[in-house]
Amino acid sequence: MSVTISPAVQRVLPLLTDPPTAPTTPHGYLDQLGPQPAADGRAVNTGFVQSLWSSRIGASLFDHAATAARRVVGILQSPAERLRLQPGHTVLDIACGPGEITTALARTVGPGGLAVGIDISESMLTRAAHRHRAGNTAFLRADAQRLPLRDHTVDAVTCIAGLQLIPDPDAALAEMIRVLRPGGYLAVLVPTVRTGPLELIGRYVPGAGGARLFTETEIPDSVVGFGLGGVDTRRLGTIQWTWGRKIR
Ligand SMILES: C[S@@+](CC[C@H](N)C(=O)[O-])C[C@H]1O[C@@H](n2cnc3c(N)ncnc32)[C@H](O)[C@@H]1O
Repeated sequence: MSVTISPAVQRVLPLLTDPPTAPTTPHGYLDQLGPQPAADGRAVNTGFVQSLWSSRIGASLFDHAATAARRVVGILQSPAERLRLQPGHTVLDIACGPGEITTALARTVGPGGLAVGIDISESMLTRAAHRHRAGNTAFLRADAQRLPLRDHTVDAVTCIAGLQLIPDPDAALAEMIRVLRPGGYLAVLVPTVRTGPLELIGRYVPGAGGARLFTETEIPDSVVGFGLGGVDTRRLGTIQWTWGRKIR
Protein backbone atom coordinates (compact mmCIF):
# COMPACT_ATOMS: atom_id res chain seq x y z
CA MET A 1 0.00 0.00 0.00
CA SER A 2 1.38 3.41 -0.91
CA VAL A 3 1.87 5.87 1.94
CA THR A 4 0.28 9.25 1.19
CA ILE A 5 1.40 11.27 4.16
CA SER A 6 3.42 14.46 4.18
CA PRO A 7 7.15 14.42 5.02
CA ALA A 8 6.35 16.31 8.26
CA VAL A 9 3.82 13.68 9.41
CA GLN A 10 6.35 10.97 8.53
CA ARG A 11 8.78 12.66 10.92
CA VAL A 12 6.19 12.35 13.73
CA LEU A 13 5.79 8.56 13.40
CA PRO A 14 8.99 7.62 15.31
CA LEU A 15 7.79 9.74 18.26
CA LEU A 16 4.54 7.79 18.66
CA THR A 17 3.89 5.08 21.26
CA ASP A 18 1.82 3.08 18.80
CA PRO A 19 2.48 4.29 15.24
CA PRO A 20 -0.12 3.26 12.65
CA THR A 21 1.04 0.57 10.23
CA ALA A 22 -0.69 2.27 7.26
CA PRO A 23 -0.90 5.97 8.16
CA THR A 24 -3.28 8.17 6.20
CA THR A 25 -4.08 11.87 6.52
CA PRO A 26 -7.23 12.51 4.47
CA HIS A 27 -7.67 15.96 6.03
CA GLY A 28 -3.98 16.79 6.30
CA TYR A 29 -3.52 15.71 9.94
CA LEU A 30 -2.87 12.31 11.54
CA ASP A 31 -5.82 11.12 13.65
CA GLN A 32 -4.57 9.26 16.73
CA LEU A 33 -7.84 9.63 18.65
CA GLY A 34 -10.65 7.93 16.75
CA PRO A 35 -14.30 8.31 17.65
CA GLN A 36 -15.50 10.02 20.82
CA PRO A 37 -16.64 9.32 23.51
CA ALA A 38 -13.48 7.74 24.77
CA ALA A 39 -13.52 4.05 25.64
CA ASP A 40 -10.32 4.29 27.69
CA GLY A 41 -11.52 6.09 30.83
CA ARG A 42 -10.42 9.62 29.86
CA ALA A 43 -12.68 12.46 30.97
CA VAL A 44 -14.45 13.82 27.90
CA ASN A 45 -14.79 17.50 26.97
CA THR A 46 -18.27 18.93 27.42
CA GLY A 47 -19.93 22.37 27.25
CA PHE A 48 -20.81 24.91 24.61
CA VAL A 49 -17.31 26.46 24.38
CA GLN A 50 -15.73 23.21 23.17
CA SER A 51 -18.77 22.54 20.93
CA LEU A 52 -18.07 25.90 19.31
CA TRP A 53 -14.37 25.12 18.81
CA SER A 54 -15.37 21.76 17.31
CA SER A 55 -17.54 23.38 14.63
CA ARG A 56 -16.26 24.79 11.33
CA ILE A 57 -17.73 28.21 11.97
CA GLY A 58 -16.31 28.31 15.51
CA ALA A 59 -12.84 27.35 14.26
CA SER A 60 -12.98 30.08 11.62
CA LEU A 61 -14.23 32.72 14.09
CA PHE A 62 -11.53 31.80 16.60
CA ASP A 63 -8.81 31.89 13.93
CA HIS A 64 -9.69 35.44 12.84
CA ALA A 65 -10.16 36.74 16.40
CA ALA A 66 -6.92 35.19 17.70
CA THR A 67 -4.89 36.50 14.76
CA ALA A 68 -6.20 40.02 15.40
CA ALA A 69 -5.64 39.78 19.18
CA ARG A 70 -2.03 38.59 18.74
CA ARG A 71 -1.19 41.64 16.65
CA VAL A 72 -1.87 43.88 19.65
CA VAL A 73 -1.36 41.72 22.74
CA GLY A 74 2.31 40.74 23.06
CA ILE A 75 1.69 38.25 25.89
CA LEU A 76 -0.34 36.08 23.48
CA GLN A 77 2.49 35.78 20.98
CA SER A 78 4.88 32.88 20.42
CA PRO A 79 6.55 31.49 23.58
CA ALA A 80 9.74 30.55 21.65
CA GLU A 81 11.94 32.54 24.05
CA ARG A 82 10.40 31.06 27.21
CA LEU A 83 10.88 27.59 25.67
CA ARG A 84 14.57 28.35 24.88
CA LEU A 85 13.92 26.99 21.38
CA GLN A 86 16.91 26.36 19.13
CA PRO A 87 17.12 25.41 15.45
CA GLY A 88 16.70 21.63 15.17
CA HIS A 89 14.47 21.26 18.25
CA THR A 90 11.22 19.28 18.31
CA VAL A 91 8.38 21.25 19.92
CA LEU A 92 4.76 20.37 20.73
CA ASP A 93 1.92 22.90 20.63
CA ILE A 94 -0.86 21.32 22.71
CA ALA A 95 -4.45 22.48 21.99
CA CYS A 96 -3.03 24.17 18.91
CA GLY A 97 -6.39 25.28 17.47
CA PRO A 98 -5.92 26.70 13.96
CA GLY A 99 -2.14 26.35 14.22
CA GLU A 100 -0.90 29.94 14.17
CA ILE A 101 1.43 29.41 17.13
CA THR A 102 2.56 26.02 15.77
CA THR A 103 3.76 27.70 12.61
CA ALA A 104 5.53 30.48 14.53
CA LEU A 105 7.37 27.79 16.53
CA ALA A 106 8.24 25.98 13.28
CA ARG A 107 9.91 29.14 11.99
CA THR A 108 12.10 29.25 15.12
CA VAL A 109 13.18 25.59 14.99
CA GLY A 110 13.90 25.85 11.24
CA PRO A 111 13.87 23.16 8.56
CA GLY A 112 15.92 20.72 10.69
CA GLY A 113 13.45 21.01 13.57
CA LEU A 114 9.85 19.89 13.92
CA ALA A 115 6.75 21.64 15.32
CA VAL A 116 3.77 19.37 16.06
CA GLY A 117 0.34 20.89 16.71
CA ILE A 118 -2.00 18.66 18.71
CA ASP A 119 -5.73 19.25 19.17
CA ILE A 120 -8.94 17.34 19.74
CA SER A 121 -11.07 19.33 17.28
CA GLU A 122 -11.29 18.04 13.72
CA SER A 123 -12.44 21.46 12.45
CA MET A 124 -9.49 23.27 14.03
CA LEU A 125 -7.01 20.69 12.71
CA THR A 126 -8.44 20.69 9.17
CA ARG A 127 -8.02 24.45 9.13
CA ALA A 128 -4.51 24.26 10.60
CA ALA A 129 -3.29 21.55 8.21
CA HIS A 130 -4.57 23.37 5.13
CA ARG A 131 -3.23 26.77 6.12
CA HIS A 132 0.18 25.78 7.46
CA ARG A 133 1.93 23.35 5.10
CA ALA A 134 5.67 22.97 5.64
CA GLY A 135 8.20 20.17 5.85
CA ASN A 136 8.72 20.92 9.56
CA THR A 137 5.06 21.39 10.65
CA ALA A 138 2.72 18.49 11.39
CA PHE A 139 -0.71 18.23 13.00
CA LEU A 140 -2.02 15.38 15.11
CA ARG A 141 -5.47 14.70 16.56
CA ALA A 142 -5.20 13.49 20.14
CA ASP A 143 -6.52 14.20 23.63
CA ALA A 144 -4.05 16.21 25.71
CA GLN A 145 -4.98 14.04 28.71
CA ARG A 146 -3.45 11.01 26.98
CA LEU A 147 -0.72 11.98 24.53
CA PRO A 148 0.16 9.24 22.00
CA LEU A 149 3.89 10.01 22.30
CA ARG A 150 6.75 8.12 23.91
CA ASP A 151 8.41 9.39 27.12
CA HIS A 152 11.19 12.04 26.83
CA THR A 153 10.78 12.56 23.07
CA VAL A 154 10.50 16.35 22.65
CA ASP A 155 12.64 19.38 23.52
CA ALA A 156 9.82 21.77 24.42
CA VAL A 157 6.04 21.83 24.98
CA THR A 158 3.59 24.71 25.04
CA CYS A 159 -0.15 24.98 25.66
CA ILE A 160 -1.80 28.34 25.08
CA ALA A 161 -5.37 28.92 26.27
CA GLY A 162 -6.20 25.22 26.16
CA LEU A 163 -6.05 23.93 29.74
CA GLN A 164 -9.23 25.77 30.77
CA LEU A 165 -11.23 23.51 28.42
CA ILE A 166 -9.59 20.21 29.30
CA PRO A 167 -11.67 18.23 31.84
CA ASP A 168 -8.62 17.09 33.85
CA PRO A 169 -5.93 19.81 33.46
CA ASP A 170 -3.53 18.03 35.84
CA ALA A 171 -3.65 14.88 33.68
CA ALA A 172 -2.76 17.03 30.66
CA LEU A 173 0.12 18.77 32.48
CA ALA A 174 1.51 15.42 33.66
CA GLU A 175 1.40 14.16 30.06
CA MET A 176 3.17 17.27 28.72
CA ILE A 177 5.96 16.77 31.25
CA ARG A 178 6.16 13.01 30.63
CA VAL A 179 6.94 13.49 26.92
CA LEU A 180 9.45 16.28 27.58
CA ARG A 181 13.14 15.30 27.66
CA PRO A 182 15.06 16.10 30.87
CA GLY A 183 16.27 19.70 30.55
CA GLY A 184 13.43 20.61 28.16
CA TYR A 185 11.06 23.53 28.79
CA LEU A 186 7.29 23.78 29.25
CA ALA A 187 5.34 27.07 28.93
CA VAL A 188 1.57 27.26 29.46
CA LEU A 189 -0.86 30.16 29.31
CA VAL A 190 -4.17 30.07 31.20
CA PRO A 191 -6.96 32.46 32.15
CA THR A 192 -6.96 33.11 35.90
CA VAL A 193 -9.22 34.58 38.55
CA ARG A 194 -8.00 36.40 41.63
CA THR A 195 -9.02 34.88 44.95
CA GLY A 196 -11.68 36.86 46.81
CA PRO A 197 -15.40 37.47 46.69
CA LEU A 198 -15.54 37.42 42.88
CA GLU A 199 -13.83 34.04 42.66
CA LEU A 200 -17.06 32.06 42.87
CA ILE A 201 -18.67 34.04 40.06
CA GLY A 202 -15.49 33.82 38.02
CA ARG A 203 -15.45 30.06 38.39
CA TYR A 204 -19.18 29.47 37.91
CA VAL A 205 -19.84 31.53 34.78
CA PRO A 206 -17.17 29.98 32.52
CA GLY A 207 -17.87 26.60 34.16
CA ALA A 208 -21.36 26.66 32.72
CA GLY A 209 -19.76 26.63 29.25
CA GLY A 210 -17.36 23.77 30.00
CA ALA A 211 -14.41 26.09 30.67
CA ARG A 212 -12.75 27.11 33.94
CA LEU A 213 -10.48 29.74 35.43
CA PHE A 214 -7.43 28.98 37.57
CA THR A 215 -6.14 30.65 40.72
CA GLU A 216 -2.65 32.20 40.45
CA THR A 217 -0.98 29.31 42.26
CA GLU A 218 -2.70 26.30 40.69
CA ILE A 219 -0.59 25.84 37.56
CA PRO A 220 2.80 26.67 39.18
CA ASP A 221 2.05 24.24 42.05
CA SER A 222 1.01 21.47 39.67
CA VAL A 223 4.06 21.72 37.40
CA VAL A 224 6.45 21.73 40.36
CA GLY A 225 4.66 18.59 41.62
CA PHE A 226 5.15 16.93 38.19
CA GLY A 227 8.91 17.61 38.10
CA LEU A 228 9.63 21.09 36.74
CA GLY A 229 12.27 23.33 38.29
CA GLY A 230 13.02 27.05 37.95
CA VAL A 231 9.29 27.69 37.64
CA ASP A 232 8.35 31.30 36.93
CA THR A 233 5.14 33.14 36.09
CA ARG A 234 4.08 36.34 34.41
CA ARG A 235 0.64 37.84 34.58
CA LEU A 236 -1.16 40.41 32.47
CA GLY A 237 -4.68 41.14 33.67
CA THR A 238 -6.42 37.79 33.88
CA ILE A 239 -3.88 35.96 31.72
CA GLN A 240 -1.00 34.04 33.29
CA TRP A 241 2.08 32.43 31.74
CA THR A 242 3.86 29.70 33.73
CA TRP A 243 7.10 28.16 32.52
CA GLY A 244 9.86 25.91 33.83
CA ARG A 245 12.42 23.24 33.01
CA LYS A 246 12.11 19.47 33.48
CA ILE A 247 14.63 18.48 36.11
CA ARG A 248 14.98 14.73 35.28
C1 LIG B 1 -9.01 28.70 22.77
S1 LIG B 1 -8.42 27.48 21.65
C2 LIG B 1 -6.68 27.85 21.70
C3 LIG B 1 -6.00 27.56 20.40
C4 LIG B 1 -4.52 27.90 20.29
N1 LIG B 1 -3.72 27.41 21.39
C5 LIG B 1 -4.28 29.39 20.12
O1 LIG B 1 -3.90 30.04 21.10
O2 LIG B 1 -4.50 29.88 19.01
C6 LIG B 1 -8.50 26.04 22.66
C7 LIG B 1 -8.24 24.73 21.90
O3 LIG B 1 -8.17 23.67 22.86
C8 LIG B 1 -8.61 22.49 22.22
N2 LIG B 1 -8.87 21.43 23.20
C9 LIG B 1 -9.87 21.41 24.12
N3 LIG B 1 -9.82 20.27 24.84
C10 LIG B 1 -8.78 19.54 24.36
C11 LIG B 1 -8.23 18.27 24.72
N4 LIG B 1 -8.77 17.52 25.69
N5 LIG B 1 -7.13 17.85 24.04
C12 LIG B 1 -6.59 18.60 23.05
N6 LIG B 1 -7.08 19.81 22.67
C13 LIG B 1 -8.16 20.28 23.33
C14 LIG B 1 -9.84 22.99 21.47
O4 LIG B 1 -10.29 22.09 20.49
C15 LIG B 1 -9.36 24.33 20.93
O5 LIG B 1 -8.84 24.21 19.63
